[in-house]
Amino acid sequence: MTKQVHLAAHFPGVNNTTVWSDPAAGSHIEFSSFVRLAQTAERGLFDFFFLAEGLRLREQNGLIYDLDVVGRPDTFTVLSALAAVTTHLGLTGTINSTFNEPYEVARQFASLDHLSDGRSAWNVVTSWDEFTGENFRRGGYLPQDQRYARAKQFLDAATTLWDSWRDGDVLADVAVGQYLARPDVGSFEHRDSQFDIRGQFNVPRSPQGRPVIFQAGDSDEGREFAAATADAIFSRHAKYADGRAFYADVKRRLPAYGRRRDDLLVLPAATFVLGDTDADAAEIARDVRLQQVSGQTAIKFLEQLWNRDLSDHDPDGPLPQVDPIPGENTVAKGRASVRIHRDPRDVAREWRELASARKLTTRELIVEVTGRQSFIGSPATVAGAINDFVQADVADGFILVPHITPGGLDRFVDDVVPLLQELGVYRTEYPGTTLRENLGLARV
Ligand SMILES: Cc1cc2nc3c(=O)[nH]c(=O)nc-3n(C[C@H](O)[C@H](O)[C@H](O)COP(=O)(O)O)c2cc1C
Repeated sequence: MTKQVHLAAHFPGVNNTTVWSDPAAGSHIEFSSFVRLAQTAERGLFDFFFLAEGLRLREQNGLIYDLDVVGRPDTFTVLSALAAVTTHLGLTGTINSTFNEPYEVARQFASLDHLSDGRSAWNVVTSWDEFTGENFRRGGYLPQDQRYARAKQFLDAATTLWDSWRDGDVLADVAVGQYLARPDVGSFEHRDSQFDIRGQFNVPRSPQGRPVIFQAGDSDEGREFAAATADAIFSRHAKYADGRAFYADVKRRLPAYGRRRDDLLVLPAATFVLGDTDADAAEIARDVRLQQVSGQTAIKFLEQLWNRDLSDHDPDGPLPQVDPIPGENTVAKGRASVRIHRDPRDVAREWRELASARKLTTRELIVEVTGRQSFIGSPATVAGAINDFVQADVADGFILVPHITPGGLDRFVDDVVPLLQELGVYRTEYPGTTLRENLGLARV
């Protein structure tokens, strides 16, 4: 059966995907930028708008990292404001389960679901570092297995809160003055190793009942958590072979939780570069990559793996002779890196082999190893490739990360979306009103 393509828009967070130096680049703080990207996504009938989360300014070599943007506003505030200027677009917020409390987060998502008439989604992340944890009362951070244990318990607790109100408990009765039809409305009790809470939840059942749940962990624990509980998974595995392996892996985990293949959508992040011809696009894409990875940025990436000050290293020369320092990263703080899951010395060995085989300078090597899946070509080529990837089970669709904020989706929506529609793999109107309906997910 031909699958339908899902598309979503990722508002750039702090990263070097966005070419901030481009004259067309706008603010990543001003509301008008959020509105522009969201309304373009809605014009393109995208499923949702996506915000990542970073809770502390990143640092490197003891200084604030300022090679891309610094700072970002609060997720719930931005998404609530966007609810007022969009009508069908889902609103997905990345909110971590390590530093927050279930009551507060459940209220925020239920409220967003009301304000948006059923368009809220929660990307449940655990966050990774102690450095970020210093900003919070909880302090420090939990080891990986405990972070996922807490995430599960957090989501269970939030679900208990959302389900403490049932359809029909609510506002319809306001007209006759019966605010609380059920005497125990909203009452809940939840006890486990992380939470011991009981009380009364005060946000009525929202249009979707619960927000759509996303997960973004990549480890075995993260994938199990997604298979057990998530409606969609946001991944970095968008390249063809890697994406197919990831897709098969997470879908294979579903039956153990009594779930079907279609109960979990796989939506990796991908970029794109459009040109009038494939050759044009390839040239623009090369230029974009060089702007994304300046010499200075290449050195910073190198330091994140090497865990050493390499500020004197020449980005246009070979990789450093010295080896990375293993263990805790003391040079780069507040960002995920390839170090999370692998010994940096193994990664360095692979990078050296690649650089030597392809005769790459440090900067060229970093361009190569930090590139994510990018659909590059004329609109027809890009539409065809996205469809091919979806039909081949690399993904169920893509969360697009444009390299220009806020206008980077314009051409995609104008030129690629109509071609996907012509291929018969993309909607010509929103099928439903809630995000759950538009994603084809079962009601809860
Ligand atoms: C694609 C992807 C996107 C993520 N986005 C965020 C984010 O925006 N904010 C955040 O705090 N953590 C984010 N994370 C980190 C996860 O929450 C998690 O802490 C990290 O991946 C380590 O867990 P893991 O070992 O299961 O991958 C992201 C992870 C992945 C794989």
